[in-house]
Amino acid sequence: MQDNRQKLDLSKSSLNFPKDFMWGTSTSAHQVEGHNILNDWWAWEHKGKVLNRQISGDACNHYYLYRKDFEMMKTMHHNTHRISVEWSRIEPREGEFNKDELKHYRKVVQELIDRGIRPMVTLHHFTLPYWFAQKGGFLNPNARAIFDRYVRRVVSELGDIVQYWVTINEPSVYAYHGYLKGNWPPGEKNFFKFIKVLRVLIYLHLDTYKTIKEIYEKNHWGVSHIGFVNHLIWFDESPRHTFMDRLLVNIYRYIFNKSYYRAFYSGRLPLILGYNKVKDAKKCIDFIGINYYFRCTCRFSLFKGLIISHEDPERERTLSNWEVYPEGLYNLCKLLGRKLNKPIIITENGISTMDDNQRISYIIRHLEAINRAMREGVDIKGYLYWSFMDNFEWAEGYTQPFGLVGINYRTFERIPKSSAQVFSEICKTGGVSDNMIRHHAKSIRERLLRET
Ligand code: FCB
Repeated sequence: MQDNRQKLDLSKSSLNFPKDFMWGTSTSAHQVEGHNILNDWWAWEHKGKVLNRQISGDACNHYYLYRKDFEMMKTMHHNTHRISVEWSRIEPREGEFNKDELKHYRKVVQELIDRGIRPMVTLHHFTLPYWFAQKGGFLNPNARAIFDRYVRRVVSELGDIVQYWVTINEPSVYAYHGYLKGNWPPGEKNFFKFIKVLRVLIYLHLDTYKTIKEIYEKNHWGVSHIGFVNHLIWFDESPRHTFMDRLLVNIYRYIFNKSYYRAFYSGRLPLILGYNKVKDAKKCIDFIGINYYFRCTCRFSLFKGLIISHEDPERERTLSNWEVYPEGLYNLCKLLGRKLNKPIIITENGISTMDDNQRISYIIRHLEAINRAMREGVDIKGYLYWSFMDNFEWAEGYTQPFGLVGINYRTFERIPKSSAQVFSEICKTGGVSDNMIRHHAKSIRERLLRET
């Protein structure tokens, strides 16, 4: 296991990133917009299923305050921002499309562009229109056609001004929470449905990829970059591990970090998803979107079954009890860069913490990991921090502050944290230098040198 406490020495060389590197943040509609009353999450929240029975409510009121947020991003030198469009607003009833909402998202995207911020648009980020969820969601036999109809409307409306698209955000997380763990809608705990949803989501990605390319070609809209974005976890064994622990680590690494990409490098689904040949799959990915947050340590126990533990008290944790482990991001970039040979964009990376110095240190150490992978030849195009502002963190409600900017949920005042200032400096200068840390993050300099 690698030591996560090597020294980060910036006194000799800074971390420099290419001039055209994408710098910015990610958000998703339901987590920030507010009042998304027509989706399955809203219904789920109102059944009291979220921690402390919280509901998303007005969230950050971003649906109305988006200009203000984009203005802040501009002053913070961000050049890219990833949003998602809310399907339930766009198609509130089956087959009925709301033109005003489509226009709204066009305005949102245009306001980003007007400020020199490149939009990246996610088509599905965890929520479903309520009508579709009632019809079985992605298990509905017509799911592919229904999703495609929605995609066509959105892409036809936005395609001439958007170049970067994300099809489905984190298919494995969506399927896991909704169909295996049961703590997200629809609250199922059924292994077979879990596998089925995973399969459908791969096909949805492939369909969506082809649909977007077809629409761009027909309209002569030039280049589009379409990404497959998944949540990756770095798995390791504990320092005193057994043969079975090691085996478990390899199994998890395969299932979570490799098998789901199989279609893209071998043209076949992984065994567990049916091993079908998937025509053209190798061509259906323009960039790999990595959402990376933490490492998991695996322990095998005969009595308790397979265990993924977060337990070692020595290791640095976040408020959500995730282990901070930048080396995991380095490992994953190397692994996927080699396997798929496509550009990578870090589409999410972030920390929930009340200690903003911890956030600054987290960001810099993860940038160091990315920078090292780039110097070793991995083609990484950008880094989007999760998230621009504190927001509604799904089953955890409002208890997880991931943002660079805090929110007063009563007045909706935006309150930038020191990390926003440091990140802004990074975006402006295109890197991290010792000088910058001395100026803007002096109090963490010692800690940073120690921890990385
Ligand atoms: C990711 C999700 C995102 C947010 C972060 C913390 O898995 O894509 O919506 O919840 O985790």
